[in-house]
Amino acid sequence: MSVSWTLPFDEKILPEDRSKSTTAQDYAKVHRKSVEDSREFWAGVAREMEWFRPWDRVLDDSEPPFYKWFVGGELNASYLCLDRHVKTWRKNKVALIWEGEPTADGRPTEVRTLTYYDLYREVNRLAHLLKHRYNIKRGDTVGVYLPMVPELPAVMLAAARIGAVFTVVFSGFSSDALAERLNDAGAKILFTADGVWRKGKVLDLKPIADRALEKAPAVRNVVVVRRVGGRTAMREGRDEFYDSALKEVPVNAFVEPERTKSEDPLYVLYTSGTTGKPKGQVHDIGGYLTLLHATMNWVFDVRDTDVYWCSADIGWVTGHSYIVFGPLMEGVTGVMYEGALDCPAPDRWASIIERYGVSVFYTSPTAIRGWMRNGEEWVRKHDTSTVRLMHSVGEPINPEAFRWLFKAVGREKVPFGSTWWMTETGGILISHLPGLHMVPMKPGTNGPPLPGIDADVLDEAGKAQEAGERGYLVIRKPWPGMPLTIYKDPKRYVDVYYGRFPGVFYAGDYAVKDEDGYFWILGRADEVIKVAGHRLGTYELESALIQHPAVAESAVVGVPDEVKGEVPVAFVILRQGYTPSEGLKKELNDITREKVGAVAAIREVLFVSKLPKTRSAKIMRRVVQAVAAGRSPGDVTTLEDEASVEEVRSAHEALQHEVRGGKSS
Ligand code: WT7
Repeated sequence: MSVSWTLPFDEKILPEDRSKSTTAQDYAKVHRKSVEDSREFWAGVAREMEWFRPWDRVLDDSEPPFYKWFVGGELNASYLCLDRHVKTWRKNKVALIWEGEPTADGRPTEVRTLTYYDLYREVNRLAHLLKHRYNIKRGDTVGVYLPMVPELPAVMLAAARIGAVFTVVFSGFSSDALAERLNDAGAKILFTADGVWRKGKVLDLKPIADRALEKAPAVRNVVVVRRVGGRTAMREGRDEFYDSALKEVPVNAFVEPERTKSEDPLYVLYTSGTTGKPKGQVHDIGGYLTLLHATMNWVFDVRDTDVYWCSADIGWVTGHSYIVFGPLMEGVTGVMYEGALDCPAPDRWASIIERYGVSVFYTSPTAIRGWMRNGEEWVRKHDTSTVRLMHSVGEPINPEAFRWLFKAVGREKVPFGSTWWMTETGGILISHLPGLHMVPMKPGTNGPPLPGIDADVLDEAGKAQEAGERGYLVIRKPWPGMPLTIYKDPKRYVDVYYGRFPGVFYAGDYAVKDEDGYFWILGRADEVIKVAGHRLGTYELESALIQHPAVAESAVVGVPDEVKGEVPVAFVILRQGYTPSEGLKKELNDITREKVGAVAAIREVLFVSKLPKTRSAKIMRRVVQAVAAGRSPGDVTTLEDEASVEEVRSAHEALQHEVRGGKSS
């Protein structure tokens, strides 16, 4: 397969500082060398960080694929993000500029700036509270269900400080999803909030947490951040407000950072896969921080004068790595915004850039497409000329979205890349590298693999593809930042990532490598869809639907959407005695929201009497997918009943008809 779109303009975007520029060929040589000796290469990067104790071995590969980085080394994530800066002039530097969503006269009504010292104080007091009041010990799990408030990074850092493992559940997930994660992770305590501002409204969070807690009995204590005020039901003996609890801790409390081991777990973060329950990705400390240190510099080129804004939510890995640990470790000033990017008007994000003079901007294709739809005039209302570097993440970026942001904010000269990585990889692995060697940027590509990252594209049989041929993205050699395992399910870790091609990490994405060694990640090769950049297993939605008594069988597939990239559509076969109705559609939609969360909102439920299946009765999702996306279903010779394809097609066409008829505009 050849690369599917032509470059929108001159393919070379070089940084103002041309001295760093190099050719793709020169980079390829440097890269090859770094990969050949990847251990020594990564050890060099890790040596740039401060360790309490140096490692004995760079990589323990005695039990593949369970790799351990920097074994014997001791360090602490909270120390690296805070104590280290507090000892220097950065003590009074702003670490976080937080902006709440509500506005008056178009201006934010709440802005909190926390210096490194402020954050250091808060984290120490929290660590004190965790240790002495709640008796949380090294290795215990701290559950977090918080929206985008400054207390969220503080809790993560406090847990890391005492060697506890944290698990953050995105605040858009439902109570069932929260309970499942808290139970799997074995959380003993939960940090949550009374509510959050979202699109101009207060969303109550505590009632959702309460419902989850009914199903998560191991959680002994609940600490509630007061974000929106008002009345919140609190359970005596279990719940306590964050501010009241903290009041009892001396302002100057100091908790010695635990000498955590490099291969200790820092956090567990759940992510969707093809089947089964969400997978708890366990990230280590030493390898993970090494990758973040590298990428903050090579990819984001951060400097002390920067104001860095990553517009993701900390509930996802992007926020863990590139709002919390990466930027703080590098001593950067970061922006953190609570609410919707278009609230109260579509110029909110441009106003944030202007207000703080954002210079490095990390966002997503979905966000860009949303802004694009509202028009460039919303950007023009503000001065965004401080931006000197941009990247996006989460899904492939389409040329229109690329070109739009490049012009609207990038003034057609600012480096703008699409960084590829995933929850599993811990940090960016394939990207343009403005902070290192400036290889010419090619819009639409993800760029070359980072130094020390041995990425490749394989065919079905595991043979390396030639340049220009589509195949499966793999990472051949272990890298720092890779997962330790899937929490409590090491077998699954082996099967999912190392089962497809023995010995190499299988990412689950289709990719093409071009003649310059640049990668083009084309999308998922499995039954995972990316809705607004969020990863959803179609299986999760199907398992939710099947819990409704009317549903006999269902197939959920992703269909293209102008803004969100993809949205789920469900084809449903009803049990006998049930008939299709609008009411039933709504019930089915509600059940997915309840079981998974609002992120899983199904665009359409389509009732059919049969679904395309193989002779062994396996639903051929590929066929459903193609038809739902308006494409030809391809080879259907293994199909048991070809009429089923027609059914799916006509259900889908009827929907198109309705849409055109103006039902949903
Ligand atoms: C999947 C991982 C890593 C942070 C957010 C997503 C897709 C991610 C890109 C990109 C094309 C991308 C892949 C990947 N993806 N970034 N720049 N270009 N595709 O993390 O939820 O774990 O999802 O997102 O399909 O496998 P995630």
